[in-house]
Amino acid sequence: MQSRTTKLAIVGAGAVGSTMAYAALMRGAARTVALYDLNAAKVEAEVLDLQHGLEFMPQATVQGSDDISVCAGADVVVITAGAKQRPGQSRLDLADATIGVVRAVLPPLLEVAPDAIYLLVTNPVDVVTYAALQISGLPPRQVFGSGTVLDSSRLRQSVAQQCGVAVQNVHAYIAGEHGDSEIPLWSSATIGGVPLLDWQGLPGRGSLTAADREAIARDVVQSAYRVIAGKGATNYAIGLAGSRIVEAILGDEHRVLPVSTLIQGNEDLDGICLSVPALVDRRGCDVRIDVPLNDEERAGLRRSAEAMRETLQKVGL
Ligand code: 2OP
Repeated sequence: MQSRTTKLAIVGAGAVGSTMAYAALMRGAARTVALYDLNAAKVEAEVLDLQHGLEFMPQATVQGSDDISVCAGADVVVITAGAKQRPGQSRLDLADATIGVVRAVLPPLLEVAPDAIYLLVTNPVDVVTYAALQISGLPPRQVFGSGTVLDSSRLRQSVAQQCGVAVQNVHAYIAGEHGDSEIPLWSSATIGGVPLLDWQGLPGRGSLTAADREAIARDVVQSAYRVIAGKGATNYAIGLAGSRIVEAILGDEHRVLPVSTLIQGNEDLDGICLSVPALVDRRGCDVRIDVPLNDEERAGLRRSAEAMRETLQKVGL
């Protein structure tokens, strides 16, 4: 729980923004949570509903407005506003519309919260993070995206369920695009400290075969589509994942998280935003962790980078 005064501003009071505010309050991520949305009635209603539950949460205050000055002085600004993904659409289909939103909202935000860490949680997150870096001119450590933190959590949950262990004992990352070209880094994954590829299974359960791993990876890619088909949007898991990233920043945790960040100095991935495990702390997202990759993973990341470059070109970035 945070003890010093910390302010989290969330832009967008839709399903993702409101759920992230709820998750951040429940987890004590910040002492002040400010919600901004163009829709005054919606933001007022969400703030009231959150305020009515404050008795049951760690000490915090909640504010909200359709005036962007509600974000003034924020330590972290999370941008959740953007186009909504409809059933049948991929995240990349939302690029133009969401970049338009970010183009409109970033300059006034930078006026009221110039020193904040900016976290993009709107799709296609890698493309939008790249656009936000260009628009803001801020250093890459200060502007990054939620990336594959959520996808990695989906991967860990699937592995944990199949292997019969707690999800917290699975360490595994999804890297690359937060989207259809993402890839699991199986070669560095562990279960209870045992390399996942050497995991022999618990009594009564087998190990994870190559076919099991492929099915899990496919399932992770399809996860969001399944949720969107059933209820129109994903909100709980991304709300928690976003709050977790905010906690790593405000708590200066030096936490390794697969966030979407500008890749520099890597021949294959240079100059685009993609998720790789990186250190997140009060300065933002600084050092990338050199996770060893096998040939298949390296090729997968290259394909993901190509998909990114194509989209950046299409949207004129
Ligand atoms: C998700 O993966 C749709 O990007 C959102 O839940």
